[in-house]
Amino acid sequence: MHLLVFPSEKAAAAALARQIADRLKAKPDLVLGLPTGRTPIPLYRELVALHRCGEADFSRAATFNLDEFVGVGPEHPGSYRHFMQQHLFAHINLPPERIGFMNGLAANADAECARYEGTIRDAGGIDVMLLGIGTNGHIGFNEPARELQARSHRVTLHGTTRRANASLFGNDPSRVPLAALSMGMATILDAREIVLLAMGKSKARCVERVVSGPLTTRVPASFLQLHRRVALVLDRPAASSLSS
Ligand code: GLP
Repeated sequence: MHLLVFPSEKAAAAALARQIADRLKAKPDLVLGLPTGRTPIPLYRELVALHRCGEADFSRAATFNLDEFVGVGPEHPGSYRHFMQQHLFAHINLPPERIGFMNGLAANADAECARYEGTIRDAGGIDVMLLGIGTNGHIGFNEPARELQARSHRVTLHGTTRRANASLFGNDPSRVPLAALSMGMATILDAREIVLLAMGKSKARCVERVVSGPLTTRVPASFLQLHRRVALVLDRPAASSLSS
């Protein structure tokens, strides 16, 4: 794993945004996998800034988000689709038809997940998968469990994860949906390159387990150790449990 430790969240976001802009120049039809959460917000802000000054052109790119809550539609203020619109999509020139998302209102979750896998395949796979990480080591909504699912699937969310997402639902964890649709571990690991972002002291322990711990379904992100091309973009507090 390639570790990149930055003096601040902003410095990390600026450096990563610059790298993505460079990738877009080299491959205008770049396929990006995207996370939600607080962590990528500064990155999205930097990408918007680069787009505004003509440095990042998304006109031929495509994106696939990692996950979506079950039971909320794209217009719902708590949905991840809405989050992405607000923080990124509304401010860049990515054609709406190239925004890949799972539909939280789909009547048949299995069919919706199979459709999503198909659209990722049809796009030629994901070039760069950006990830955040939950404090319990989850990626996407692949929660710690005795078994992990390889492909996109419906997930029952843990209490900690629902609490962590409460800000999207009026700070009321009981309003956070009980389930979500998520890319599976193999869907994530199929990406040609993976960049995991983790910021702040609350992520230090799980970052340490991802980097140095055993592969375990109890820390889904530990499976990133199996990938040939993974970078961890950290600030100093998130890197504070790693031995130098
Ligand atoms: C959610 C998302 C994850 C994200 C995690 C961390 O549970 N499903 O994809 O990585 O939150 O969020 P944050 O960046 O706010 O710590």
